[in-house]
This record gives sequence, C-alpha cells and structure tokens, in this order.
Amino acid sequence: MVEVGRCKMKSLLIDGGCVLNGQIKVQGSKNAALPIIAASLLFPGKTVLQECPQIRDVELMKNLLECLGCEVSSRENCLSVEAGEAKVNNLPARWVGGMRSSILLLGAMLARFHSAVICYPGGCVIGERPIDLHIMALEKLGAEIHIEGECIIAKATNLKGCKIQFPISSVGATEQAILAACGAQGITDLYNAATEPEVVHLCRFLHSAGIEIQGIGCKHLRITGQSFAKNYPGEIQYTIPADRIVAGTYLLMAAACGGEIYLENGQSQEMEALLAVTRQLGSRVEGSKTDLPGGIFLKAEKNLKAPEKIVTGPYPEFPTDMQPILAATLSKADGESIIEETVFENRFCYVSELEKMGGKFRTDNRRLSVYPAYLHGACVQAADLRGGAALVLAGLIAEGRTKVENAHFIERGYEDIVRDLRKLGAKITSET
Ligand code: EPZ
Repeated sequence: MVEVGRCKMKSLLIDGGCVLNGQIKVQGSKNAALPIIAASLLFPGKTVLQECPQIRDVELMKNLLECLGCEVSSRENCLSVEAGEAKVNNLPARWVGGMRSSILLLGAMLARFHSAVICYPGGCVIGERPIDLHIMALEKLGAEIHIEGECIIAKATNLKGCKIQFPISSVGATEQAILAACGAQGITDLYNAATEPEVVHLCRFLHSAGIEIQGIGCKHLRITGQSFAKNYPGEIQYTIPADRIVAGTYLLMAAACGGEIYLENGQSQEMEALLAVTRQLGSRVEGSKTDLPGGIFLKAEKNLKAPEKIVTGPYPEFPTDMQPILAATLSKADGESIIEETVFENRFCYVSELEKMGGKFRTDNRRLSVYPAYLHGACVQAADLRGGAALVLAGLIAEGRTKVENAHFIERGYEDIVRDLRKLGAKITSET
C-alpha cells in the first residue's frame, strides 16, 4: 500500500487493566463519508459535509478530488467540495493506490466527464479484493473499459440506464453502479444491491441532491439518471452519520475491560447483530430502535460468556469489520468461541500478533477458534485497520504494557483513538 496523507502516529502504548467508564461522541463514519465525498463530483455546486471524520482516508479522497480540479476545504469536521470547475479525468497512481474507495471515482468521473483514467485501488490487505463487479456494472451501463497493466481506461459517451444483477452482495460495486447510474440516461435497476447502512447514506445524500432513488435500504434499487438536473438545490448540506464500526469497537472494548459507557450518538438500529453478540457476552446494552439520536449505553458483566458461533456476512449479518475486534475480546470469554469469516478470505492476519500476547487460537481456512487466555503486554505490529484496533483492545485487557507498532493503519479509520479511550479512562498514549 502507498503511504500518503496525514500520518501522525507511529505506535501506541497501552497499560492494560483499566475499566472503561464514561461518555463519548462517536466520530462520523469513514465508509459513509468516502462514497459521499466521491459523489460530490457529480454536482456543479457546493457540497458541505458536517461530521466528516478527520482520518487519513478522507485526506486521501480530498487530495483525489483536488487532482480532478475541485476546490476542497475543511475546517475541523466540516468538509466543503466545490466541484463546478472540475475538468481533469485522470488520477495519479500514487494517490489512488492508497485506498480502496478511490475506485469509486471511476463511476463518478464517467458520469461527470464521460471518460476516466485510474489505476487499481489499494486498501487494507484482507483478501484478494477484485473489482470485476465494478467493471461489470459500468460496462452494463455502456462504458467501454480497457485495462492496460495497472491502468483502467474507461469511456462512456452515452451511459444508458439498464438492469444490473449482482451475483454477490458488494458494497463498493453497488456504490459504483449508483454513482454511474446518476449520470446515465433513463432508469437503472440494481438487483441484489448491498443494503449496508453506508449504501443507504449514499442514497440519502444523492436524494437530497435531487436524484430520484427508489428502494433505499432494499436489495432492489431504482435510480432515475440525470434526474437531479431539475431538482438540484444548488448547494447540498449533509451530515455524515456516526461510524457503526467505531461505535462497535468501543462497545466491545468496554465489554472486555468492564465498566459502563454511553455513546451519545451511537446508531443502535444499524448495529443489531453486534449488539446481540454483546448481549450474549453478558453485557447489558440499551439503544434506541429508531433513527432518532438515542445513543447506546453498555454496562459490562464481570465475566464474559462465550457466545454461539459467529458468522460474518453482508448487512444485517455480523459485520466482517468487527471480526478481528471480536476475536480479541473472546480471549476473555469463559470457553471456546468460533468465528467464521465469509466475506474476505484473508482476514485473520492479526492472529499471530495476538499470539505474541498469549492469545490462543486455531485457524482452519475461514474458521477461527478462540480459546480463553490471559493476555500479557508485548510489542506487536498492526497490519491493517481493524486488525490494528483488535491489538489495541488486546492491550487494554492484557497485563502490563503493550506497544502497537504501525499505528498509522489505525489512523485510516479512527479519528483519535487515544483521545476517545483516554476519555473513557484507558491508559493509552501515542508516539509520533
Ligand atoms: C467495504 O469494502 C468496506 N470498505 C469494508 O470496510 C468492508 O469490510 C466491506 O465493504 C464489507 O462490508 C469501504 O466501504 C470503503 P465488498 P468493499 O465489495 O466495498 C467481493 C474497513 O475496515 N468482491 O462489499 O471493498 C470481495 O472480494 C473496510 O473499513 C468481488 O468479488 O467490500 C469480498 O469478498 C475493510 N468483486 C465481497 O465481494 C468485486 O468487484 C464483499 O466485498 C467487489 C467485491
């Protein structure tokens, strides 16, 4: 992966054994913000995003939009994009290779400029992560796509609405198709579309910009292309929702460490599968069942009960992004636990690092058995974003001091994990 953007933290130092108590606000969602920022390219006026997380991947997306000729400015958590003057259809490899979401600019550029040149995206190394479904969707919409080495060259003089059936649920390919369909003539029907809350937020954002989208949150989405021409409000204001994976990370940390925490803006209705597992662990969890801001409250039980087998899957199933963090938590459970990873084929990389801390695991292809273990502090290395968060959790429950190196991976998705955890009473500092 190419290293770009703000990079403040080299490592994290954690003194384990603290109970977590207190109240925090959860940052805006990375995986909602990135496609919405990419979508701002579609519109001729200003897009203002509130609660945009200040993380490395957002920095990277800002850089990419600037390369296209957009004016981008940010102040704390407010990000503005002025895309009226954008005219470049070609993105430099050094930025694109830095993260997976940069590929979404392919569909957005085709919708805006009718042509695009972009290289293969980077991102966390958690599996092969092909983009065949992205390409399939764009070709169905009428794009001509040639691959030359690492370079994707796409042309679409006339994107046309069509019917696209996805063979598997893909968040990114669904978002790609939605973005390109916004610029197509006529109606596009997406079948077996991903229903993750981040896809829902992209649709809501586009709807607020005047695009007609039916079936938001359903597996069948209908997008009326170019519909914003008559309804575009001139300026779009949107608030990025709280990050459900960051919220889930802090809930599991509290469940593992003990204590009582309240996530002011936690969106419990998007987190049912995770909350159900947290309850199986023995924690008391309460949250509002509506979209209204109700927050999430968790009171941990002293001893963690091993839950039933957990299988990751597309929304509303248990999220793959929580899998590493759950695995670290389960070291503290009272018996063997089993996790099956069905989304990505290489998402157990963190296990060898947890073993350095005394963790006991057995991996068998996509199945992970976690055995009860007393973790001790060690020097470990993050290899990806959520695996890095799992090591931080392990550090919090371990005896003694843990050093998590390569902490820049964690900055890809957590705005300030040190600030948040210190507020909850953890003993954690960063080295830059
Ligand atoms: C998104 O990745 C998220 N990233 C991931 O979060 C998340 O783990 C994943 O969705 C699943 O929920 C962003 O939103 C930026 P997919 P994405 O396409 O879109 C296969 C994090 O930690 N596939 O839904 O890349 C793919 O290999 C990150 O925040 C194809 O075969 O995931 C996988 O097995 C990591 N061909 C499955 O689909 C394609 O063209 C689901 O992947 C595309 C995907």
